[in-house]
Amino acid sequence: MANKEEKPEGKESSWKDLIYNPRTGEFLGRTASSWALIFLFYLVFYGFLAGMFTLTVWVMLQTLDDYTPKYRDRVSSPGLMIRPRYLDVIVNRSDPQQYKKYVQDLEDFLLDYNDTVQEQNVQCPEGQYFLQDDPEEKKVCQFKRSQLRQCSGLADTNFGYSEGQPCVLIKMNRIIGLKPRGQPYINCMAKRETLLEMQYFPTEGHIDKMYFPYYGKKAHTKYVQPLVAVKLQLLEQDYNTTLTIECKVEGSDLRNNDERDKFLGRIAFRVHVTK
Ligand SMILES: *[C@@H]1O[C@H](CO)[C@@H](O)[C@H](O)[C@H]1NC(C)=O
Ligand SMILES: *[C@@H]1O[C@H](CO)[C@@H](O)[C@H](O)[C@H]1NC(C)=O
Ligand SMILES: *[C@@H]1O[C@H](CO)[C@@H](O)[C@H](O)[C@H]1NC(C)=O
Repeated sequence: MANKEEKPEGKESSWKDLIYNPRTGEFLGRTASSWALIFLFYLVFYGFLAGMFTLTVWVMLQTLDDYTPKYRDRVSSPGLMIRPRYLDVIVNRSDPQQYKKYVQDLEDFLLDYNDTVQEQNVQCPEGQYFLQDDPEEKKVCQFKRSQLRQCSGLADTNFGYSEGQPCVLIKMNRIIGLKPRGQPYINCMAKRETLLEMQYFPTEGHIDKMYFPYYGKKAHTKYVQPLVAVKLQLLEQDYNTTLTIECKVEGSDLRNNDERDKFLGRIAFRVHVTK
C-alpha cells in the first residue's frame, strides 16, 4: 500500500484518470459543467419531441367521431361464421357427452336472442332498411331465437344432434353502414354428387333488410345480427362419412367468391355423424 502511494507524478495519467481526473475535475473526460450542459440539451430535446408527439395525437383524437369510423374507403363485404364454433362437427348421436360441447356453444350463443330479452327490442317493418337519424342510442330490431324453430334449442334442446340431423347457425359479421342490395339469403350445399336435404330457418335462409345498417358498437349497443339456421337432414346412409358443406350468401351484392378470402360471404365446414 505504502509503495503505491509513492508512485511518481508521471504515472498520473493512468486508466483511473479516464474515469475521474482529480487535477482537472474531469469525469469521463468532461467537466461537471460540460456534463450538465449535455444533460440539459437532451432534456430539452426529448421534452420537445414528447411534447410534439402528445400534441399530434391530441389533435388527431379531436378530429375523431365516437360514432363512425373516420377512415373507410368503401363499405366492405362481410365474412360468414358458424355456430357451434367448430369447422369440424363430429357427432356420435348416441353419446350426449360427446356432442355436448356443440349444444352448449349454441345455447351460450343464443342467450342474447332469448325471446324475453328480444321483446325489449323493436319489431321493425320487414323488407326495408331500418334507418335511424338519432345520433345517440340506436334502436335494435328484434330477432327471437324462437324464429329458428326446430333449431332454436327450445322444443328440441339438443338442436337435432341426438337425432343425427344437427343444426348449424350461420351469421354474418357486422359491418358498419352495410346495406346489402337485393334480397340476401343463405344457401348451403354438400360437396358431393347427390343432394343433401336441408331445412332453413327462417324459411329459405332469408336475411331481412331490417337488420341493416349496423351503426357501430357504441351507438348500437344491443344490436343482434340476423341468423340463419340450417338443419342438415342426414339419413343413415350419410353416416360414417365426412361431408363438406359450403354455405354462401346469395341474392345480393354481397361478395361470396373471393379467391383469396374463403370466408368472405361464404364458409365451408365438415360434418361427420355416427350412430
Ligand atoms: C358412440 O357412442 C356410443 C355410446 O357411448 C359408443 O358405444 C360407440 O362406440 C360410439 N361410436 C363411435 C363411432 O365412437
Ligand atoms: C331466457 O328465456 C327463458 C324463457 O324463454 C327464461 O326462462 C330465461 O330466464 C331467459 N334467460 C335470460 C338470461 O334472460
Ligand atoms: C358405421 O360404422 C359402424 C361401426 O363403425 C357400423 O356399425 C355401421 O353399420 C356403419 N354405418 C354405415 C351406414 O356405414
